[in-house]
Amino acid sequence: MLGQKTGIAVMVSGGGTNLQALIDAEKSGIIKSGEIRLVVSSTPGAYALTRAENSGIRSVVMKDEDQLLEILKSEGIELIVLAGFLKILSPEFIGAYRDRIINIHPSLIPSFCGKGCYGLHVHEKALAYGVKVTGATVHFVNEITDGGRIIAQKAVEVCDGDTPEILQKRVMEQAEWILLPEATEKIAYEIMKGIR
Ligand code: GRF
Repeated sequence: MLGQKTGIAVMVSGGGTNLQALIDAEKSGIIKSGEIRLVVSSTPGAYALTRAENSGIRSVVMKDEDQLLEILKSEGIELIVLAGFLKILSPEFIGAYRDRIINIHPSLIPSFCGKGCYGLHVHEKALAYGVKVTGATVHFVNEITDGGRIIAQKAVEVCDGDTPEILQKRVMEQAEWILLPEATEKIAYEIMKGIR
């Protein structure tokens, strides 16, 4: 609703460290134009669900997109944030939230993205190629995997001796956990003000 805080749903599949960064950013006031009202997990055992519970945020395990769309509507969700979410959403679902779904990807798109490029695989590819700089990207979600318009990016140095795990941790700490809250606030603000 115009002028009221943007209702946000965060979609997850795993550990939920990006979800935690969003929760912490809302508490600290970095996210002030939106409120996280719902966490949706693609898997029942995701630790992200525990993080939601610890913060008193309603959570659901996704069954199908029709049921999810009903829940999103009932919660007044206007912005969906994919935070380590590993399922591919249908064109119909994406169309229902055109330019209202954003995703965090752990590389500087267009490098190391697209089909099969998720999680640790992204960092394995970056190290195999020998790039000296990598980072994270927040982009709008459209029908092309990691193909939507870029919102923000943050670069991170690749160091000698990096393993995929070490590099992933540095990208999360120095890029993802900073960039996603900032980008979420930017888009939530635009929706709240009616300029998106
Ligand atoms: C991580 O590989 C992260 O880089 C990517 O999704 C994976 C899980 O992140 N965005 P999270 O800890 O579940 O947020």
